[in-house]
Amino acid sequence: MLVFSAETSCDETSVCIMKEDKTILSHIIYSQAIHTKHGGVVPELASRAHLEILQQITKEALKESGVKLNEINLFSATCGPGLIGGLLIGSTFTKSLSIGNSKPFIPINHLEAHILSSFFNNEIKFPHLCLLITGGHTQIYFLKNNNDITLIGETIDDAIGEAFDKVAKILGLSYPGGPEIEKKALQGDENSFKLPKPLINDDSSNFSFSGLKTSVNLIAKKNIIDHSFINDMSASFQKCVGDILTIKLNRVIAELYKRNTEDLSVSVVGGVANNDYLKKCFKNIEEEKNIKFIYPPKYMMNDNAAMIAWATILKHRNNHNLNFKPNPRLTVKE
Ligand code: KG4
Ligand code: ZN
Repeated sequence: MLVFSAETSCDETSVCIMKEDKTILSHIIYSQAIHTKHGGVVPELASRAHLEILQQITKEALKESGVKLNEINLFSATCGPGLIGGLLIGSTFTKSLSIGNSKPFIPINHLEAHILSSFFNNEIKFPHLCLLITGGHTQIYFLKNNNDITLIGETIDDAIGEAFDKVAKILGLSYPGGPEIEKKALQGDENSFKLPKPLINDDSSNFSFSGLKTSVNLIAKKNIIDHSFINDMSASFQKCVGDILTIKLNRVIAELYKRNTEDLSVSVVGGVANNDYLKKCFKNIEEEKNIKFIYPPKYMMNDNAAMIAWATILKHRNNHNLNFKPNPRLTVKE
C-alpha cells in the first residue's frame, strides 16, 4: 500500500510518499523563508506560499519516488489545528487528488500526528506520557494506548516555541527563534538573569510562558542589547524553560506513580524537541526516575508530511471514520 500525504498547517509546505512498511519513497519539506523578515508567521503569506509550492513539490515527490499518481492507495492531509488558509489548501488539493484517482482521503489531526511521530522509530510501552512542544502548542498527554489519548495539561497562554520565537525577536535574532537562542545560549552564562517561572507551584499540569517573555522584554529595555547580553539572556531564558519543564514533568510522573502507573515511558515531540539543552534536562529526569525518554526521528520533529503519512497508516489500520471538515481549533478528542 502507498500513501500520499500533505502538511500545510503553518509555514512548512511538505509532502510525503510512504509505503505501509514505513519505507519513505519521497519526503519534501519546504520551509517558507518569507516569514523570516517579519519575525513570525504571516497567515496570508503562508497561504499564498502553500498554493505556489504544493503542486510543484507533489510533482517532485512523484518523480523522486518513481510512483505514478494512480498507484497511490490512500491520500491524506492535515485538517487541523492550524491556520485555516493552509488547512483548506492542503486538504482541498489532496482530496482532489483522491477523488481524481477514486481512492480514499483520510483527514489527519496535526497534534495526533506529532504525538504518534515517536512511534515510528520506537517500540512504545503503555502507559505512555507525551510532552508536545511546538510553536503553537505546549501539552502533556497520557496515553493508555494509541487510541486512548487524554490531555492532562497545557499552556494557558503562549506556547513554548512561541516564547522562544518572541524572545528571539526581542533580542534581534531571526525567525524561527528556537535554534537561534540555542546557539547563542552556548556562549552565555545561564545564571546572569533571574527570570520568573510561572505556575511551577501550581498543582495543575498547566504551563504559562507569557510572563516569562514579558520579563525578558522589560530587562531588555533597561539594557544595551549587545552580544554578551544576547548570549547571557538566551542562556538564562533557556535554563528557565528547562527548569519549568523539569518541575512540571517530575510532578506529573510523581502523580502517576502514586496511582501505581509503573513502566511509564515518556516521549518528547514537536519542533522544540530539537533543543539539545532541553534534552539534557530530560536525560536528568530519565536517570533520576529510571524512565525511558524517546524522541521521533529528527526529520519528524518540525512540521513535516512524513508524520502525517505515518499517522495515516496507523489510522487506516484502525479503520478510521472518513468524514471531516478542516478545523483550525481541532483537538485530539474530535
Ligand atoms: O513543530 P513545529 O515545527 O511547528 C508547530 O507545530 O508549531 O515547531 C516550530 C517551533 C518554533 O517555535 C521553533 O522556534 C521551535 O519549534 N524550535 C526550537 C528549536 N528548533 C525549533 N525551539 C527551541 N530549540 C530548538 N532547537
Ligand atoms: Zn506542528
